[in-house]
Amino acid sequence: MIPSKLDPIQRLLMTPLKHLPAWKSLEQHYKAMRAFDMRTAFRKNPQRFEALSLRCGDLLLDYSKNRITSETMTQLMQLARESGLEDTRDAMCRGERINFTEQRAVLHTALRAPVRPPLIVEGVEIEHEVATVLKRMQRFVESVHNGSWLGYTGKPIRNVVNIGIGGSDLGPAMVCVALDHYAVESIRVHFVSNLDPAHLASTLATLDPETTLFIVASKTFTTLETLANANSAKAWLLAALRAPAAVARHFVALSTNAQAVEAFGINPTNMFIFWDWVGGRDSLWSAIGLSIALQIGWGNFQALLAGAHAMDLHFKEAPLEANMPVILGMLGIWYSNFWGTDTYGIFPYDQRLRLLVPFLQQLDMESNGKNVSRANRLVNYNTGPIVWGAPGTNGQHAFFELVHQGTRLIPTDFLMAAVNHTPLADQHEWLLANCLAQTEALLKGKSRAVIEAELIAQGMSSKAAKALAPHKVFPGNRPSNTLLYQKLDPHTLGMLLALYEHKVFVQGVIWQINSFDQWGVELGKQLAPPIRAALSSVRAIGEHDGSTLGLITDIRRRRGLST
Ligand code: F6P
Repeated sequence: MIPSKLDPIQRLLMTPLKHLPAWKSLEQHYKAMRAFDMRTAFRKNPQRFEALSLRCGDLLLDYSKNRITSETMTQLMQLARESGLEDTRDAMCRGERINFTEQRAVLHTALRAPVRPPLIVEGVEIEHEVATVLKRMQRFVESVHNGSWLGYTGKPIRNVVNIGIGGSDLGPAMVCVALDHYAVESIRVHFVSNLDPAHLASTLATLDPETTLFIVASKTFTTLETLANANSAKAWLLAALRAPAAVARHFVALSTNAQAVEAFGINPTNMFIFWDWVGGRDSLWSAIGLSIALQIGWGNFQALLAGAHAMDLHFKEAPLEANMPVILGMLGIWYSNFWGTDTYGIFPYDQRLRLLVPFLQQLDMESNGKNVSRANRLVNYNTGPIVWGAPGTNGQHAFFELVHQGTRLIPTDFLMAAVNHTPLADQHEWLLANCLAQTEALLKGKSRAVIEAELIAQGMSSKAAKALAPHKVFPGNRPSNTLLYQKLDPHTLGMLLALYEHKVFVQGVIWQINSFDQWGVELGKQLAPPIRAALSSVRAIGEHDGSTLGLITDIRRRRGLST
């Protein structure tokens, strides 16, 4: 028995995951479940949907189409308890430094709480500072909207360009697309992230410098892509307005690094700060959300925060067995670690959520793509899955073949709104019908006997039907979760995003990894500058592996440089 006084991290250090009693009993349980057929389970238990679905506010999670029984869920929750999930969650909310490789607290939940915890973290009085930044953001957003913030030549702002990458781009870009129905008419928001100059150039091509505001969004303010794009944007502005003073009316910065912002040439009065205890991939709730508030207005931005806060409360207060992020997270553990699945498909049947997958890829894969445990040892089990997907119905006509008939088992999430903001004829009914049809097809499948009989009824010979039928079989018994909501409004979107954030947190705790660092992005960044030099100077070619050297040499040759 582990004494309860230990801090959560100490607890985890004590027992490797595979030694936990619940892990061992899940291994046994999996053996018994290998032959489990969901179709039989639904036939035997007409209450299966009621038993294995859950509501939280506007969200309904149906997880009954999974290879689980009530015993599976009991054992998974036992694993969560033995892993110290509740303690670690509470430690996060208390502002403890659960990001132990960077010695940082993890407090994005404090950004969206109407009553913020009276915490002092890394010298910051959270309650006061968060409120101050939010107030400044609100004033700024309102001044742009009511036309009191003017460009250098006295014209109101019509276009906003958020320059950022990763967490300083994916979250705000995704939310702006998701909530386009709520967009303020006078402003259009654009996102530029890629180092490829094509991204900035094609965006600027349609814009007027006199009415364009640039938001340079970077937690560290050292990111190559963002600084390069921001410098090019500044040059574009200055070439048109020909006055260094114009920068102050057309550039604002969102960052934790005031010094670097000033060094770039943005006045600190045009800077909205956030803090080290806000991870990049969890930062859309902070100053990084400025582009969102400019697009949808302050009231709607607050509704987004309120939705996330509602999910935070649910995550903190609901028992594990009725806790949506915990259920989603533990189902992922069940498939990754016991069924051996490698990927996880996400299919929003909601065109406005078309950027959800890239956002979740960063959230999930940057958080849980780790191979070393809290005990500083290589893990001996799978951690974060490969996250992929696309909006329905597009995916159906592209890769669903593999989901239905491929050799791999793929856990999936389907998302759909009961009501569309922009109904056209009966298109939304068809959208919903397709979403439901896909999860039903994954579950039910279609047997060889049925297919053969159909083919013969259509006039095919029995021999030909026998030959063709195996190709048309749907094995079925394939898992899916369905998340249903009324319509995609700011509050619901806030809930959905916080749900996925907490799900990823849950899995990181179980896998005993640090979900809040990202050391894996560093090596490529370190190797790039010498390669950059080698591309243009023969003296700088330096030592590279044979392949990289061959490619550098070929690039130089194509550019007419000596090799
Ligand atoms: O390189 C990865 C990363 O550090 C992400 O974690 C982060 O969201 C992104 O780059 C952008 O970083 P920044 O906001 O500091 O520019």
